[in-house]
Amino acid sequence: MKLAVVGSGYVGLVTGACFADMGNDVYCIDIDEKKIEDLKKGVMPIYEPGLEDIVKRNFAEGRLRFTTDLREGISDVLFVFIAVGTPPEEDGSADLQHVINVAKEIGRSMERYVIVVNKSTVPVGTAEKVRAAVSGELKKRGRADLEFDVVSNPEFLKEGDAIEDFIKPDRVVVGTDNVRTAELMRELYSTFLRQGDRVRIMDIPSAELTKYAANAMLATRISFMNELAQLCESTGADVESVRKGIGSDSRIGPSFLYAGIGYGGSCFPKDVKALIHTSKSMGFDARILGAVEEVNRMQRQIFINKVLKVLGQDLKGKTLAVWGLAFKPQTDDMREAPSIDIINGLKKKGARFRAFDPIAMKVARSIFGDDSIEYMNNNYDTLKDADALLLLTEWHQFRKPDFDKMKSLMKSPLIFDGRNQYEPAGMKKIGFSYYSMGRPVY
Ligand SMILES: NC(=O)c1ccc[n+]([C@@H]2O[C@H](COP(=O)([O-])OP(=O)(O)OC[C@H]3O[C@@H](n4cnc5c(N)ncnc54)[C@H](O)[C@@H]3O)[C@@H](O)[C@H]2O)c1
Repeated sequence: MKLAVVGSGYVGLVTGACFADMGNDVYCIDIDEKKIEDLKKGVMPIYEPGLEDIVKRNFAEGRLRFTTDLREGISDVLFVFIAVGTPPEEDGSADLQHVINVAKEIGRSMERYVIVVNKSTVPVGTAEKVRAAVSGELKKRGRADLEFDVVSNPEFLKEGDAIEDFIKPDRVVVGTDNVRTAELMRELYSTFLRQGDRVRIMDIPSAELTKYAANAMLATRISFMNELAQLCESTGADVESVRKGIGSDSRIGPSFLYAGIGYGGSCFPKDVKALIHTSKSMGFDARILGAVEEVNRMQRQIFINKVLKVLGQDLKGKTLAVWGLAFKPQTDDMREAPSIDIINGLKKKGARFRAFDPIAMKVARSIFGDDSIEYMNNNYDTLKDADALLLLTEWHQFRKPDFDKMKSLMKSPLIFDGRNQYEPAGMKKIGFSYYSMGRPVY
C-alpha cells in the first residue's frame, strides 16, 4: 500500500520505516530540511535501537523516501499519517498548531481521495478540527468535491523499544465512523498482526481518549509507587520488596511499579497535563491526575533534599558525578528528564558536575551547556575526586559496576541512587554510604 507520514521524529520515522519494511511504499515528510537531507544520507536524527538499519535498507531498496515537499509526498498515496509534535501549552493543554498546519497543508495539496490518519497524541475533538482544516482549504481552492476521511490511530510505542512495539503491537486502536476506512486500516496493519487480529475499532472520541488514558494509567502507577516509597521511608519498609509483593498479583502485574525520581520524557508529563486540562475545560476536577502530577514533581525535590541533607546546603567546591542523563535508558530523549531538574536544583546550591550518559550527552549539552558540567567519555571518568555519585538513569551498564574501582576514584564512597539499582545492605557491607528511594539506609 502507499502512504505518507508527516513528521519524521520518534513516532513518524519509526512508523514510516516499519511500514516500508513490510513492503509498503512510504514517503516520510518533514519541514526540517536538515533532518530530511541527513536522512537521505543515512544520518539518523534520533537514537532508537534498530532504526538505522531499517531506514537505510528500505531507503536503499526504494520503498522509503524522504521529502520536505508535502505535495510531492502525498501525490499518489491512500493514507497520510500526521505524526508531528503536540507539546504542552503554558496552561497544560496540547498545542495543536503543528497538527492543524499539516491538515491545512494537506487540504491545499491533495488531488485525490486520502485517509488522513492522526497518529499524534491529541485531545478529544481534534479529528473534527483536522476535518475542518482540510475542508476549509479545499473550499478555498474550489475543490470541495475532493473527498477524504479522518481517522484517529494513536501510537503506543515506547522510546528505546519503539521498533519492537510497532511491529508487535499489543493492540492497534482505530477511531473511525466509516466501515470501509476501518477495513483499509485493518488491511494496512495486517502485516503486524499475523498472530491474531488486535485491531480495536471504535468511535473517534474514544480512540483519542484511549491514548491519554493509557499514559495516565501508567503515570499513576509510577506516582502511586513513589508515594508508597515515602511511606516506606517513614516506616522502615523497603519499596522494592513491596513492589515484588504486589507485582506478583496477577490483578496488578509487575510493569510500571518502580519507585524512583519520577517519570519524564515527551509523553507522560504532557499527556497527564493535557488530560487535566481537558477535564477542567469540561468543568470537571481530575483529582487523581492532579495528585499524580504533584507526586511526580515532588520526587525530584525529595532526591535533591537527600543530597543536601548529607552534603549540606552549600555545595560550593563539591563535585558530583552523574551517571545517566536521558529520561530513561535506550534513548537520547531528554524532554522533561528528571536529570534536568535535579542538576539545575543542585547547581543553584553551587555544585559542579561530571556527567556521563551512553547516548544522550549531545542533547544534554544543548540543554545544560558547558557551565558547571564536564561531559566524560565513560562512567568511571566522572568519579575522579567526586564527593558523591548521583545515579539518574538506569542504563544496563550501571547495574554491575566495579565497586572497588569506584571507591578508589571517589573522594568519598557516597552514592545517591535515584533508580534503586543496588542493594542497600550489600552496599553498606562493601563500604559505601548508599541512599536510594523508599528503602532503608544502613
Ligand atoms: N515519542 C514518543 O515516545 C511517542 C509515543 C507515542 C506517541 N507520541 C506522540 O506522537 C507525536 C509525535 O511525537 P514525536 O516524539 O515523534 O515528536 P518529535 O518532536 O520527535 O517529531 C515531530 C516532527 O514533526 C516535524 N514537524 C513539525 N511540524 C511539521 C509540519 N508542519 N510538517 C512536517 N513536519 C513537521 C518536526 O520537524 C519533527 O521532526 C506527539 O503527539 C507525541 O505525543 C510520541
